[in-house]
Amino acid sequence: MPGTHVLAVDQGTTGSTALVLDPDARIVGRGYAEIPQHYPRPGWVEHDPADLWEVSRRVAEAALADAGIRPGDLAALGITNQRETVVLWDRRSGEPVANAVVWQDRRTARRCEDLRSRGLERFVRDRTGLVIDAYFSGTKVAWLLDHVDGLRRRAERGELCFGTVDSWLLHRLTGGRVHATDVTNASRTMLFNIDTLEWDEELLAELDVPREVLPEVHPSLHEFAETAPGAFLGASVPVAGILGDQQAALFAQACFASGQTKNTYGTGSFVLSHTGGQRHFDQTAMLSTIAASVEGEPTQYALEGAVFATGSAVQWLRDELGIIRHASETEALARSVEDTGDVWFVPALTGLGAPHWDPYARGTVLGLTRGTSRAHLARAVLESIAYLTRDVVEAMQRQSGIRIGELRADGGASANGWLMQFQADMLGIPVDVPEQIETTSLGSAFAAGLRTGVWKDRAELARIRRTAHRYEPSLDQDRREARYRRWKQAVERSLAWAAP
Ligand code: G3P
Repeated sequence: MPGTHVLAVDQGTTGSTALVLDPDARIVGRGYAEIPQHYPRPGWVEHDPADLWEVSRRVAEAALADAGIRPGDLAALGITNQRETVVLWDRRSGEPVANAVVWQDRRTARRCEDLRSRGLERFVRDRTGLVIDAYFSGTKVAWLLDHVDGLRRRAERGELCFGTVDSWLLHRLTGGRVHATDVTNASRTMLFNIDTLEWDEELLAELDVPREVLPEVHPSLHEFAETAPGAFLGASVPVAGILGDQQAALFAQACFASGQTKNTYGTGSFVLSHTGGQRHFDQTAMLSTIAASVEGEPTQYALEGAVFATGSAVQWLRDELGIIRHASETEALARSVEDTGDVWFVPALTGLGAPHWDPYARGTVLGLTRGTSRAHLARAVLESIAYLTRDVVEAMQRQSGIRIGELRADGGASANGWLMQFQADMLGIPVDVPEQIETTSLGSAFAAGLRTGVWKDRAELARIRRTAHRYEPSLDQDRREARYRRWKQAVERSLAWAAP
């Protein structure tokens, strides 16, 4: 009998999640475990690729056990992942040759400056939809090839594979048979032409990345391979959906048409606005990126504003300052004071992403007085998440001409009712939170299930999404604008702080 359930594996920055969905799209099994983080130098962030695979495999097994089903009951497997992070491995043995360089890692900021000073900004934007930034994979791949002994030679001889995390997991899942990725992940490498859907020879030459290391690229809804029973769960399961985690969230939020917009509040915050089959060219601060695309249909695009540190700023309150024990405490703390007492926090903990793009900006706290309490600081951190989202939404509307009438919110912090209300107030539009906020995993399950016929079409997926809370804006415009102006002053002060 063919399988009925869908397994999603979501390999994220802080951990791996696995969900099992039944044919009614109910979550019936779950597994989660954290991934060890490595910070070998200031600004560097690494993962051990073996951890990414082992932890993902373990949580998948745990989710199946939790659901009480056997691997043979699965109709499909979907993969979603932290994007841009670079893994390099030996093609034959499948062994990683270096630690993964994580998307947050800033070690190639200088190299990016060099590319910009050579006037390549327009060129890179036209081909890839991206701004030149250390965030993306291209300069990270070149860095590893240049700094780990012997790698460049081995890469040129075709002995190495580069992949984003999806590609690394797929390679492991198939027992080393398949080296492939999907268009959404490829669109984050700064090496991929998002119009022709091919690796770009000129960019490869500019960034010094040999073609031999690159994976094959397929649409996101595609039968990539079957898992090798010896490598995974002892069963052959079709891997039928692969997409970057933010594009997966866009998919699960049923943002399928131009103008439909979501924000996922995770380690960072990622605002994506669907632009249909049309790619926007004129943007400077926003990224144009590929949205989930179906085999045989026109490529879908989105505009993206990537804010690097939001949830991680709350973690910083917990882990480094120790002023909260759990992230959820910030909600009660924020409510316990009337305002921040004019304390401002800019969460530029790994530089600033969209729309400011300053790798040298640093986290900033302004306005402390003897009376400042942890509640003021916690509230300032939450407010900063909402202000940065507004920075992005405004820049997006300005540059694309698309009006955003509602923000669909998900991710961990969308459970924080105070923050969601403040977000609606700051944007002046409703914020809509669905019942199911684990949208990254859900999106990859939906993609794989749609491809294999578990679900019929996008309309069915749109019906599955149900609103849990809708926050209407209630702050008057004068107060909103006065606070936003003050925020902008705070951002100014954080810029270029760590410039060499
Ligand atoms: O672009 C980075 C993004 O994909 C990471 O998302 O949720 O793993 O922090 P997350």
